[in-house]
Amino acid sequence: MRRITGATIVAGVAGSPVTHSLSPLIHNAWLDAAGIDGVYVPFQPAGDRFDRFVEGLRGGAVRGINVTIPFKEVALSMADEVSKRAHDAAAANVLVFEPDGTIVADNTDGVGLLGAMKAQAPGFEIAAGPIALLGAGGAARGAAAALVTAGAPEVRILNRTLAKAEAVAGALGGGVKACPLSAAPEAFKGVTAVINATSAGLSGEGTLDAPLELTPETAVVMDMVYKPLLTPFLKQAQDLGRRTVDGLEMLIRQAVPSFETFYGRTPPELDVRALALGVLGEGR
Ligand code: ATR
Repeated sequence: MRRITGATIVAGVAGSPVTHSLSPLIHNAWLDAAGIDGVYVPFQPAGDRFDRFVEGLRGGAVRGINVTIPFKEVALSMADEVSKRAHDAAAANVLVFEPDGTIVADNTDGVGLLGAMKAQAPGFEIAAGPIALLGAGGAARGAAAALVTAGAPEVRILNRTLAKAEAVAGALGGGVKACPLSAAPEAFKGVTAVINATSAGLSGEGTLDAPLELTPETAVVMDMVYKPLLTPFLKQAQDLGRRTVDGLEMLIRQAVPSFETFYGRTPPELDVRALALGVLGEGR
């Protein structure tokens, strides 16, 4: 059993709600397997007191935190130093508390997205053609920024509310185009991938009505939602014979650079996906 000592490195995840976060499971499994004197805990600050919570961590009593819904944007605004990828995403999923009081913001969601595509759709080339991205909230903005940086020649943002897609496209410039979700039949033509970054498909939320049959047969279909793992959107893609990439793989892969930042080591070889699937109640 791992002991907590006077030298234990403390990190964690802040969100609201945070109870269902899989990050504590993933990070603590890695810590156990690597025998690192560290711990990773969930924090659920009151919604209007996140800023005070973060201020209280200044100075490094806690090494760092991952940040999840709904605090990613405010987390960015509280940092003294911001990485380029966090700036481009307009959100932070990592805050590091340096001993001198500095707060450093980073965003590893893009690493997670690209890593998941590489793992589950081997051979997929970001630069090979246009990519359709569904949604224009915080998750979509981060994904669009990461895709552009990774060399996507064109990202077509489709959203129910066109104005929000236009705002994201305006902020990211050049290769990012905005269209209404209803224009999907046109926008899906010739894409190499379709990525769902809306909250549709989440248990309890509505489902997405997307004409995936109009994508090229070679298109890769990804869903950032992972509860359930096989969303109706991914099921539709699989039934059409498209290659699919799931949100759990993205979650695990964004955790890798976070772990390295907090604990100074690469995570050990361990099937954390199987552990997470066990908790999600999924057999695969
Ligand atoms: P997040 O921070 O996770 O991105 P968000 O900012 O609330 O969450 O954004 C949710 C996104 O999902 C929005 O793009 C929303 O579309 P609108 O901007 O038109 O509201 C999209 N969304 C949610 N449910 C949807 C549904 N059933 N069909 C289509 N889009 C949906």
